[in-house]
Amino acid sequence: MTANHTAFASGIHPEDHLCSNPARNKENGLTNHAPKILIDEADIAARVVELATEISTDYEDCSELVLVGVLKGSFIFLADLSRKLTIPHVIEFIAVSSYPDGSQPSGAVRLVMDVRGSIVGKDVLIIEDIVDTGHTLQYLIGMLESHGPASVRTCALVRKADRAEVDILVDYLGFDIPDEWVVGYGLDYAEQNRTLPYIGVITPDG
Ligand code: PRP
Repeated sequence: MTANHTAFASGIHPEDHLCSNPARNKENGLTNHAPKILIDEADIAARVVELATEISTDYEDCSELVLVGVLKGSFIFLADLSRKLTIPHVIEFIAVSSYPDGSQPSGAVRLVMDVRGSIVGKDVLIIEDIVDTGHTLQYLIGMLESHGPASVRTCALVRKADRAEVDILVDYLGFDIPDEWVVGYGLDYAEQNRTLPYIGVITPDG
């Protein structure tokens, strides 16, 4: 049974979900102005090809490369990067969350979803959309290394170098960016704007 059939069976017409809610942006604190383009679609695509070429060269002799995408933000970058690699690889996903309630030290990260397959003896490349304070990547490197891989390296599309609180090596970096709120190409503000084809800057309403 399709989703539409389910909706009808429950008495809810599919078009009932096609609501427009002009107040939604305001409720989320989103500005109604379009994001200002920081890195355009062509520059992202060109840099993704460069990174893929570099990674393909470095891992040319490895038969067990595992790309580990960090949900949710990495999903578009990972999809584009992986399709430009010229070497065999497999894809895994992992999900983490920070502690929002102050119950843990600032920067503490917890695992929400682990990789599904074994990474023992394999070469792992963590794929991030953004490195901000660096706590997430620091946690992930340690956590994945504890699984017994052959190696763990890191790849991030963007990094806010001015925000770094821990010293983390990003082996493959797309762009260093200023400390501004960026959206698009996987990056969100309150879950919005992830699918913009470019990386843009927004100013959340105060
Ligand atoms: C973002 C990003 C990284 C993390 C980086 O995830 O995807 O995982 O923050 O921050 P850090 O360097 O300060 O640790 P976010 O929590 O926004 O979740 P999302 O990927 O689901 O949007």
